[in-house]
Amino acid sequence: MCYSEGVAKVTILPAGDTYEFDLDTMPYDGHGQPKSFLDVAENFGFHLEHACGGSCACTTCHIVVKKGGEFITEMEDDEADRLDMAADLQLTSRLGCQAVITSNDADIVIEIPSWNRNYVSEGGGSMNLGDAIPAPKK
Ligand code: FES
Repeated sequence: MCYSEGVAKVTILPAGDTYEFDLDTMPYDGHGQPKSFLDVAENFGFHLEHACGGSCACTTCHIVVKKGGEFITEMEDDEADRLDMAADLQLTSRLGCQAVITSNDADIVIEIPSWNRNYVSEGGGSMNLGDAIPAPKK
């Protein structure tokens, strides 16, 4: 698949760091959907929590899209069902492991919700969630 000329651009708030990459050549890191925000985060060493490993079975990768939603895949039913359980849900909330960037023309701004930020800053990790992680859908 060819994603057009140029490079995709993703800015992550509140830090404001911007990552630029070519969707045609960005390798798949093995977490979440290929070309998802989790995939981008893993490629660039940005920490986006992903307690279930990117299999749409938790909400720790919750992001809020602030700009550029037209460059992201439509939400599937599985993602919508899981997202309903997320804290601090907003109209443009997505799961970072399921929302896939669709074009090298993308100029996207996302925000990590404060709940997730606080969780990370307090030393949260996949191993600490225990029973809070629902079992994956079959
Ligand atoms: S990492 Fe668990 S749903 Fe995205």
